[in-house]
Parts: sequence; C-alpha cells; structure tokens
Amino acid sequence: MDTAVKVPMKPLWKWLSLTASVLVLVVVSYFAVGVAVRDRPEVRTGTIHASLSRESCVGCHEPIAAEWRESFHFLSLSGPFWGRLRTKRADRLFEALRIPCVNCHAPANVLDLTEQAHPVQRTDAVQLGVDCVSCHVSEQGIVGPGRSAAAPHEVIVDKRFQDAILTSIAICARCHAEAQFNVVAEWQQTPFARNGITCLDCHMPELEAPSVAGRPARLRRSHRFLGDKDPEMLRKALDISISVNDDGSATVRITNSGAGHSFPAAGTNSLFVNVTVQDDDGLVLEEKERSFGSREWIPGYLDFWPFLKVTKIPYGQSREIEVDLPSEHGSIAVELRYRDWFMVKNQDVVFATLTQAY
Ligand code: HEC
Ligand code: HEC
Ligand code: HEC
Ligand code: HEC
Ligand code: HEC
Repeated sequence: MDTAVKVPMKPLWKWLSLTASVLVLVVVSYFAVGVAVRDRPEVRTGTIHASLSRESCVGCHEPIAAEWRESFHFLSLSGPFWGRLRTKRADRLFEALRIPCVNCHAPANVLDLTEQAHPVQRTDAVQLGVDCVSCHVSEQGIVGPGRSAAAPHEVIVDKRFQDAILTSIAICARCHAEAQFNVVAEWQQTPFARNGITCLDCHMPELEAPSVAGRPARLRRSHRFLGDKDPEMLRKALDISISVNDDGSATVRITNSGAGHSFPAAGTNSLFVNVTVQDDDGLVLEEKERSFGSREWIPGYLDFWPFLKVTKIPYGQSREIEVDLPSEHGSIAVELRYRDWFMVKNQDVVFATLTQAY
C-alpha cells in the first residue's frame, strides 16, 4: 500500500480529521453508553485502606511518583488526547465518553479481580488515572514484592510482584490484553516469553534509585513505563538494512527485532517507511513510501474486515521495499516516521534514518 500523506497536516485536513473524529467519538460513545446501561457495570471506589489515601502513596514515594507522573499511566485521563478534547470545547463529550473509558483508564484496584473479570471504573480521584492504588492495593491492603523491611506500613507479599512472568500475565494483562490488540497474547508467542524476558524487562527496567525521598538508593524497577512516545524505544524495536542487488535495484528491509509484540503495538498508530534514490547532485530520482499499522473506520467498533485493515509487523518478521536505481552512482536514503493516534499528536516523529551510497 503506497501512501503519499505528508506532514505536518494541512489546516483543511486537520479540520476534516477533527470533525471526523468528533463524529466517530459521538457514535462510539452512543454505543458505549448503550453497553454500559445494559451491562450495569460495577463501580467501586477502590481504596480500602482508610488511613492511606491515593495521594498519600504519592507523597511518601516521591521518587517513584515522579517517574509515574511522566508515564501514560498517570496521563491516562489527563494526557494530550483528553486535553485536546476539552480545549475543543467538547466538555460534554468528554464527560460522556470518559465513563465507558475509565474502566481501564482510571480503574479500581485490579488485584482482587477474579480471572475472567474485567477492570471496573472507580469514582474517586479519577484524574490520577492508573495510579499506585490501582496496581498495589487489594482488599487486604498494600501488596508488594516484599523486599524492604523498612516500610512503615504493612506489606502483603504476593507472587504477582515477585515473578515477572506472573506479573505480566496477571497484572499487565488485566488491561493490556483487553485493549483492541492483545500485546500480551502476542508477547506469549515470541521467544522473549520463552526466555523469560517480560513486559517489565522492556517497560520497567531496573535502576538504582530510592523508593522514598531521603532513603538510600536501591535496585528497583522504573515506573516510567516508556513506550511508543519515546523515539529511543521506537529505534530499539526495528532493524533497517539496505542491500544493492545485481539487477540495478535495491532492497530496504525493516525487521521487528526488538519489540516483544507487533510494531506498532496497539491502537491506530502507524509506521511510515520512506525510501528515496538520489543522484550525486541530490536530485530525487525515485521515491517510495509504505505504511504499517491498522486502519479503522470506527476505532474500537466494527473491528473486522473490511472495516479494519491490519498491516502491522509481527515480532521476528521483516518487510521489504524494492526500488530501482536509475543512475550509475547515487545514494539510497531511508526515513522512518511514526504517527501516534492523530488526536494525541498531529505531527509525525522521524525516529531513524539510514543512507547508503551505490
Ligand atoms: C479494556 C481497557 C480499555 C478501555 C475500556 C479503553 N481503553 Fe484506551 N487504552 C487501553 C490501553 C491498555 C491502552 C494502551 C495501549 C495503547 O497505547 O494503545 C489505551 C490507550 C488509549 C489511548 C492512547 C493511544 C496511544 O497511542 O497512546 C487513547 C487516546 C485511548 N486509549 C482512548 C480511549 C477511549 C476514548 C476509550 C473509551 C471509548 C478507551 N480508551 C477505553 C485500554 C482501554
Ligand atoms: C501499572 C501498575 C503499577 C503502577 C501504576 C504502580 N506500580 Fe509500583 N510496582 C509495580 C510492579 C509490577 C512492581 C514490581 C516490580 C518488580 O518486579 O520489582 C512494582 C514495585 C513497586 C515498589 C517496590 C520497589 C522495590 O523496592 O523493589 C514500590 C515501592 C512501588 N511499586 C510503589 C509504587 C507507587 C508509590 C506507585 C504510584 C506512584 C506505583 N508503585 C505505581 C506496578 C505498578
Ligand atoms: C508514611 C510514608 C509512606 C506512605 C504513606 C506509603 N509508603 Fe510505601 N513505603 C514507605 C517506606 C519508607 C518504604 C520502604 C522503602 C525502602 O525500603 O526504601 C515503603 C515500601 C513500600 C513498598 C515495597 C514493599 C515491599 O518490599 O514489597 C510498596 C509496594 C509500597 N511501599 C507501596 C505503597 C503504596 C501503594 C502506598 C499508598 C497506598 C504507600 N506505599 C504509602 C513509606 C510509605
Ligand atoms: C489498570 C489497567 C492497567 C494495568 C494493570 C496496566 N496498564 Fe499499562 N496502560 C493502561 C492504559 C489505560 C494505558 C494508556 C494510557 C494512555 O495512553 O492514555 C497504559 C499505557 C501503558 C504504556 C505506555 C504506552 C504509551 O503509549 O506510552 C506502557 C509501556 C504500559 N502501559 C505497560 C504496562 C505494563 C508493563 C504493565 C504491567 C506491569 C501495565 N502497563 C499495567 C492501563 C493499564
Ligand atoms: C523485548 C522488549 C519488549 C517486550 C518484552 C514488551 N515490549 Fe512493549 N514495547 C517495546 C518497544 C520497543 C515498544 C515501542 C515500539 C512499539 O510501539 O511497538 C513497545 C511498545 C509498547 C506499548 C505502546 C503501544 C502503542 O502503540 O501505543 C505498550 C502499551 C506496550 N509496549 C506494552 C507491553 C506489554 C503489556 C508487554 C508484555 C506483555 C510488552 N509490551 C512486552 C518493547 C517490548
């Protein structure tokens, strides 16, 4: 599929895309509210520990909270998508929409859910998104790996915080296996899963830092949860190579060798691969562009063919782009661009380039 979409977006396209997305959101929320009314979802406030409010964790565990505040777990209901919705004066839509969405974007505690149960929305401090309590507090109290004896509060030691494979399938999967593209099931098919390389190894790497301000640094995992908003993570995911063939053509190969799931991982994000062939004076002789991702008519609904087209690159697979080399000498240039869901950002990020002379 060759596309010629260029960045930054033209004002008309911007206007059209905004109008289209508002329409889509109206339809989505109509369905979502319908489902919500029919299913009468359970609503729980979540915090059982009367002495420890949601904000108290953040107060004592400031170094961890500082990481989490930059993550999209915290930004899950206050981040760019929702911000844009509000600045476009879509406050009522915001209120209507966020109800079916807070199940995962601001859930009650997930640790007590039975195996097949879905996360449920909470009613308190919704603006904190996926917060400390969502992941760490159960009906019994604060749950953790049990490595620090110095905690001033009781800690319930739980295998789900000690064994990273179990964490991935019992905690991360609570929300990430329900998202439209199931990264947990994808990860389970990769050699990473077989070799014990989990979601945590890539998204919660170990670092040496205190967990409470003023206390000594310790080896613990980052709560920054870096993902596709970070160009370095995008670069880690893919290998690019250019090979010149005997028949006067060249092959550009893009391999997903570093993401523990498909690339792009989830949502309606896209990768654009732009290949140009230039002569020695820099004149462009050939240009090809291909995109990889998924196209949805109505995000989240009607997610089957022909309304949904998926061209993501699964882990371990390569995609090739062939170009002719019309001159004797010149260079082949590859540019990789990433487009985040357009409501979040409307400008692509160029995260990798490669040039080779021939
Ligand atoms: C079943 C749980 C679940 C529900 C319900 C849910 N989401 Fe999400 N959402 C997720 C997960 C997990 C991610 C992170 C994966 C990703 O980045 O695509 C996410 C990511 C997003 C993103 C960021 C996409 C990006 O590329 O960073 C937006 C915006 C979003 N959701 C909007 C919504 C809206 C609007 C609704 C309600 C109509 C909703 N979500 C309902 C689980 C959910
Ligand atoms: C998305 C789920 C999630 C959220 C949100 C979250 N955590 Fe964690 N946290 C984890 C997991 C998983 C571990 C265990 C990592 C490991 O294997 O060491 C952990 C570990 C910890 C530890 C133990 C560190 C150590 O000494 O090893 C502390 C303390 C902690 N989290 C506090 C917090 C605080 C405070 C917040 C809110 C600012 C928070 N967490 C938010 C999932 C989460
Ligand atoms: C009064 C300050 C304070 C408050 C409030 C507090 N913590 Fe802690 N917590 C600590 C200290 C101190 C430690 C030990 C840290 C260390 O050893 O470096 C700790 C340790 C932890 C651990 C790791 C325990 C382990 O070894 O498994 C977790 C998980 C944790 N806290 C989660 C939370 C959560 C969730 C909240 C909010 C409900 C919270 N804490 C509120 C001070 C606090
Ligand atoms: C309670 C639900 C929930 C749980 C549990 C959860 N997540 Fe998330 N996570 C989300 C939602 C919702 C988002 C998307 C927020 C957004 O972009 O608006 C998200 C975003 C992310 C992102 C960032 C994606 C981006 O676009 O930047 C990463 C990485 C991530 N989660 C990894 C994990 C890992 C690893 C675990 C297990 C330790 C985990 N999550 C547990 C709900 C959850
Ligand atoms: C080997 C490393 C690796 C493993 C294992 C891994 N990821 Fe990722 N993940 C990445 C990289 C690199 C990216 C950025 C490229 C991309 O979006 O595919 C990413 C992106 C993401 C995103 C952002 C998706 C989006 O499009 O907004 C989420 C959410 C995520 N991962 C969740 C998970 C979860 C949950 C697991 C465990 C089931 C997991 N990842 C396992 C490396 C990994």
